[in-house]
Amino acid sequence: MPLAAINPTTTKAWKALKAHFEAVKQQQMQHLFEQDPERSERFSLEFEDLYIDYSKNRITNTTMDLLIEFASEMKLNEAIQLQQQGDGINETEGRAVLHTALRDFHNVKPEVSEARKRMKEFSEAIIQGNYTGYTGKKIKTIVNIGIGGSDLGPKMVIEALGHYRNHLDVQFIANIDGDFNAEKLEQLDPETTLFIVVSKSFTTQETLTNAKAIKEWFVEKASEEAVATHFVAVTANLERAKDFGIRVTSIFPMWDWVGGRFSLWGTVGLSISCAIGYANFEQLLQGANAMDKYFKDTEFSENMPVVLGLLSIWYTNFFKAETEAVVPYSQYLSTFVPYLQQAVMESNGKHVDRNHESVTYATSPVVWGSTGTNAQHAFFQLLHQGTRLIPVDFILFSQSLFGNGSHQDLLAANCFAQSEALLQGTYGKGTTETYKDFEGNRPSNTLLLKKLTPYNLGSLIALYEHKIFVQGVLWNIYSFDQWGVELGKQLATNSAAAIKAKDVSTDLHSASASLIRKYLNQ
Ligand code: F6P
Repeated sequence: MPLAAINPTTTKAWKALKAHFEAVKQQQMQHLFEQDPERSERFSLEFEDLYIDYSKNRITNTTMDLLIEFASEMKLNEAIQLQQQGDGINETEGRAVLHTALRDFHNVKPEVSEARKRMKEFSEAIIQGNYTGYTGKKIKTIVNIGIGGSDLGPKMVIEALGHYRNHLDVQFIANIDGDFNAEKLEQLDPETTLFIVVSKSFTTQETLTNAKAIKEWFVEKASEEAVATHFVAVTANLERAKDFGIRVTSIFPMWDWVGGRFSLWGTVGLSISCAIGYANFEQLLQGANAMDKYFKDTEFSENMPVVLGLLSIWYTNFFKAETEAVVPYSQYLSTFVPYLQQAVMESNGKHVDRNHESVTYATSPVVWGSTGTNAQHAFFQLLHQGTRLIPVDFILFSQSLFGNGSHQDLLAANCFAQSEALLQGTYGKGTTETYKDFEGNRPSNTLLLKKLTPYNLGSLIALYEHKIFVQGVLWNIYSFDQWGVELGKQLATNSAAAIKAKDVSTDLHSASASLIRKYLNQ
């Protein structure tokens, strides 16, 4: 069954929210805290090791009640059931959306269980040194060749879980940037390097071009026969991978019911399983699975992905906020934002709704951010005194991996101080120098996780995945396709042909023709 296709602006709750917004838009959070010192306890949620304080938002009980009514009117409950039972909710591609099945341990699909078994065996053989290269040496380096969802997820997780890593060096090649790749190749030893070509479609220009070039480099250093040992593939396109020269037993399957940007939980996570071991990889899945169940079974007012999704809609559609910042206070999470950018914006950056009509309201905000405290010394000026309203998600781990010392406590102190400064500003501390004024009343959520473990990271990622789902349902858009990336791909093929032929006389757009002419002659 498809998702319901209701225009959100026609619901009773949306209209009520509009009226409510007019009544409360000037309200100061500083006053709300003065009136209710318990506000932080009231507007907070806890699930396992994750605590979310969402009290520093421009909301009252009525706001939350109306937002929840809105979610019910938009049939969010039914949508959650449809997604998790595998209905074809990715309508424009005619597919189900079942990345949650990749981390299910109760109702395991046979193909998922088989793939997990193979991942476990393979990664253990690599880690233990039983899988050797063409000269009998142990594998020391893994290179993941893939882009978008076939790169960002595993890269982010491996970096985030750096503390749990073994001796293997894991590298990522995504961009079609010859200089970067040449630098990388110079550092690689063909005898001890394993290449994982990750591409769901196995047609992605960047991945295939990189994989071909790397294979040529490898054959030159080693031999054609050695390719079978040193190249494995993760793909849904078995035939293409075979044509590339990868032996069938080295191909790990993907399925069309998993979107690229939600695929780290399955075989796309092969590099993760190698880097941190299969047991840790399974912990990551368990944490995500716990979040899936909680999301499915928890009433909206207590449900983290629902509450975060609704708050984001409150700012995007009523306060007209254009962006959201995410600031993890952990250097381990330094690639979390780029990962989220694909997950959020490729999913919800859509202007056509599920009735195939143009929407009359904003959809995905621009997601951006970086790690604290670094970001405090970079863009926080704008968060505090700029002209835009930018809701912020602060993410902090309460227990440091090396034991809490002065660093950890300062990290935490800074995180709490920043959200307080955004909230309170210089309110009540009048200054005559206006440029030193902070108006405050700037919203944020604080996500406090006990510790950076594989399990908790799995929950955190799944939390954001479900937030994306909630918002897509409520904006009445298709979150699981990405047609918006196709036009650029086609045009790049035309430009590439013109550059190769050194001929811009073909039917290129004049805008590109003039740049290509300059490019060829500079
Ligand atoms: O072009 C966008 C995209 O299709 C992403 O959605 C995807 O994650 C990425 O390209 C890579 O695709 P593939 O895994 O098929 O190479």
